[in-house]
Amino acid sequence: MPELKLPFLGHGGDYNPDQWRDRPDILEEDVRLMKLAGCNLMSVGIFAWSALEPREGEYDFGWLGDVLDRLHAAGISVFLATPSGARPAWMSRRYPEVLRVRPDGQRNLHGERHNHCFTSPVYRAFVGRINRALVERFGHHPAVVGWHLSNEYGGECHCALCQQAFRAWLKARYGTLEALNRAWWTGFWSKTYSDWEELHSPSPVGETSIHGLNLAWRRFVTHQTADFMRAEAAPIREVTPELPVTTNLMEIFGGLDYFEFCRDLDFASFDSYPRWGGPDGEWTALCAAFNYDWMRTLKQRPFALMESTPSQVNWHDVCKLKKPGMHLLSSLQAVAHGADTVQYFQWRKSRGAAEKFHGAVVDHVGHEHTRTFREVQSVSGALAKLDDVRGAMPEVRAALLFDTQNRWALEDCQGPRRDMGYLETVLEHYRALRRHGVALDVIDETCDFERYHLVAAPMLYMLRPGVAERLEAFVRRGGTLVCSCRTGCVDEDDLCFLGDFPGPLRQTLGLWVEETDALYDGEANGIRMNDGRSYTCRALCDRIHPETAETLGVYTADFYAGEPCVTRNGLGEGAAYYIATRPDAEFLDDFYTGIADRAGLECPLRGLPVGVGAMARGGLLFVMNFTGRAVRASLPEGVDVLAGRRTGGETELPVNGVLAIRPGR
Ligand code: GLA
Ligand code: ZN
Repeated sequence: MPELKLPFLGHGGDYNPDQWRDRPDILEEDVRLMKLAGCNLMSVGIFAWSALEPREGEYDFGWLGDVLDRLHAAGISVFLATPSGARPAWMSRRYPEVLRVRPDGQRNLHGERHNHCFTSPVYRAFVGRINRALVERFGHHPAVVGWHLSNEYGGECHCALCQQAFRAWLKARYGTLEALNRAWWTGFWSKTYSDWEELHSPSPVGETSIHGLNLAWRRFVTHQTADFMRAEAAPIREVTPELPVTTNLMEIFGGLDYFEFCRDLDFASFDSYPRWGGPDGEWTALCAAFNYDWMRTLKQRPFALMESTPSQVNWHDVCKLKKPGMHLLSSLQAVAHGADTVQYFQWRKSRGAAEKFHGAVVDHVGHEHTRTFREVQSVSGALAKLDDVRGAMPEVRAALLFDTQNRWALEDCQGPRRDMGYLETVLEHYRALRRHGVALDVIDETCDFERYHLVAAPMLYMLRPGVAERLEAFVRRGGTLVCSCRTGCVDEDDLCFLGDFPGPLRQTLGLWVEETDALYDGEANGIRMNDGRSYTCRALCDRIHPETAETLGVYTADFYAGEPCVTRNGLGEGAAYYIATRPDAEFLDDFYTGIADRAGLECPLRGLPVGVGAMARGGLLFVMNFTGRAVRASLPEGVDVLAGRRTGGETELPVNGVLAIRPGR
């Protein structure tokens, strides 16, 4: 697998010269401004299909060649994009099968983007042809250092071709209709299928109540999208096997199983648009960091921050400007967590259409004398001093298990609450561990657990085959496992485990769950720990029976007051904890402080003020102030390579301050 090997930390953005072909003066000026901004990496051609193939079969690549030559002459590298994210109107008109069909069976009209059928042989053929032409013409151009496939793959198509492909996929997965009927419990409501042709994707005007079908469909969508992506990458892999291939992924995206999807990519890249400037800076920063940790873990490689905005977006409900310093801070946060590039959507604001007010390095004013431009320059200045981190992976010995297929199952789950709050729960555990300074991978059920000391796996509702066994082995060999309510309920087809929950994790956790109470929003129960500390909890309360587990805390209210709520089961060399409810932040903070100490996790800079993040990478310790105010923190002795100043002792961190400390005297 080719790696992303840049001789520098990448800095640049989506560049759309295709929109400015009648303005050679602007195309020239772009290069001057890029050099002035300290940019060295542009993503070119992402939505350029109608400029590249204005009429069927007629390629116009001359302008793109000129752009690549010009960038190369200026020492700027390129991720060359394939254009499949949006197609020309002539194609939809002549070949309507490329248009996506909605779940209600209605075919879309031509419009928008990201709206093609992933199965259509016609679309695949068009994409294959233009990608081959692009790679043959430009694959060996000295500016090109990698491939940017399409854009933000996502969505689904319910056309007849996709239904056929779905049935074929189901046949391959289940073998026989009997097996499928059994796995989906179709005896319920008389749903038994008697012919493969009766199978159809879930639809609001059809079937939504077979959870096994819903899960299968979402798995199929990942499979089919990845299959499309493989097809579009085939000519590229053939002609330029040495160049790494990526596509840009989205924030906490649940439409695709990214671990599965990314098996075909060489490195992950990410589009990051946090709501900076909101009321809770710590939470915003945590959500961003969570995504970065996920991206780094997907391939266990540094990732590209493929998109971010240098100022504001145009699609949040309220699009705030990044306050002074926030652009540098937010960019270096990605680098601290594993990014080898800082890139933007977009280089230059378009003059018209949907994104004309989306932030860009170059505004409509067209020159460099803007605050945003200076903030971008500050990032190039910093990246030049951070080369130590390039290619480096942070040392990580703890993992948070966030499994997309589990998320699908939980989202579909009917009872005991409509919203099970999986994502929020995962983020709450993430916050507690990060507050303690623990570096985390964000893994899923298919990842190797053995490389960690601690695996936190809240709400692991759906256990795919072998997962419980691997978690048990992990604990027996000395690992620490943390589970919480709604664990071990269903198998990979969404069938409940018989013999009660937590199903195949019963022995590992040393308990069984008799029933689960749901609390109204705003309603709470309490937890009292053996040492007397007490906390609140909410949403869900399992009533549990410890078998080999010891009780660490009990409920304080309702008819199950006094019953166990927090347990620990020593097993082999390790231990498995169970938190039978959704506890408050104070509980998780205290709980993980103890756990991290016992699991021997080294925490850089524990005890930083809440909202100040720390992350070590490539021998540098990044300290980042997301609190929105100046705070005092105790820093290790060393040198902040950004400011070129010695550090040590009590220090004031300015608003949006960021340091990269090389420890030492
Ligand atoms: C996404 C897309 C870009 C652009 C940005 C705007 O990430 O990939 O084309 O629309 O959003 O924030
Ligand atoms: Zn289709």
